[in-house]
Amino acid sequence: MLTIEGVTKRFGEAVAVDKVELNIPEGQMVGIIGRSGAGKSTLLRMINRLIDPSEGNILFDGTDITALKGSALRRWNRDCAMIFQQFNLVPRLDVLTNVLLGRLNHKSTFASLAGLYSREERLMAIAMLERLGVVQSALQPAGTLSGGQQQRVAIARAMMQEPRVVLADEPIASLDPMNAKVVMDSLADINKRDGITVVTNLHTLDTARTYCERIIGMFEGRVVFDGTPAELTAAEARRLYGVQNEGFSEAMTSTSLSADEDERPAPMRPLPGNRADTQLAEERARALA
Ligand SMILES: Nc1ncnc2c1ncn2[C@@H]1O[C@H](COP(=O)(O)OP(=O)(O)OP(=O)(O)O)[C@@H](O)[C@H]1O
Ligand SMILES: [Mg+2]
Repeated sequence: MLTIEGVTKRFGEAVAVDKVELNIPEGQMVGIIGRSGAGKSTLLRMINRLIDPSEGNILFDGTDITALKGSALRRWNRDCAMIFQQFNLVPRLDVLTNVLLGRLNHKSTFASLAGLYSREERLMAIAMLERLGVVQSALQPAGTLSGGQQQRVAIARAMMQEPRVVLADEPIASLDPMNAKVVMDSLADINKRDGITVVTNLHTLDTARTYCERIIGMFEGRVVFDGTPAELTAAEARRLYGVQNEGFSEAMTSTSLSADEDERPAPMRPLPGNRADTQLAEERARALA
């Protein structure tokens, strides 16, 4: 069980996440939706410990993960895997090596530095690539794969951690509809077959409805909807996205919606390929080099 207790995140004066309270039981597939700037990524980054909350606690099976340090933090980094919109693979390294990077938190510093992987780990990586339908690319540099293939490699890498929770921040926002479907099907599969809790930010409402048993809607940092797809009525959805007109389409993206007429100043958008995320991937690569 993942428990978020009174979590607030401020950036200077701005409140990105505002007193969020959530309980996410093990094995749930949860979609977080809301317009651009609603605080979706900030919430995931706090769960993953890329950033710390200004207030509140995040507990996993009763342990406050916001207070973890050293080996306990490394253990959480292994239990909680993250998938990013920009895949965050190391493009010049081959696919298999990228997937093996998912094992780093299971290994001693020496074995990681030496890039030593056991036969079992290599077999596990190949089996995972096979399961995700990208094994034929195992020896290619990751950067030469299509976006959909790269995201499947990223899921394979996450699975190598043997995580209990997978967080995904707009995993399909850079993909065409066909690849988006394959990637969402893969996430649903690891949720159903492996019982892994999946919490994913999604920038279209129709995807959340199709794949998630529970939808959490955020608006200006707060949770304003929490229920099943059936409970999320069209009127509720318009309110959540701050759209009045009847022409609102559920396939519209949070980003295009935020381009609506709005009296408030447009929220500042973090740069694509967030620096903290990229840094994480680079650190892992350096550990291998
Ligand atoms: N590192 C940061 N420094 C300052 N402000 C930030 C930072 N990260 C996020 N914010 C601000 O916090 C608010 C929430 O941002 P967040 O990225 O969590 O939104 P989001 O719901 O993920 O939006 P999107 O759909 O565009 O990805 C925004 O106003 C954003 O500008
Ligand atoms: Mg975001």
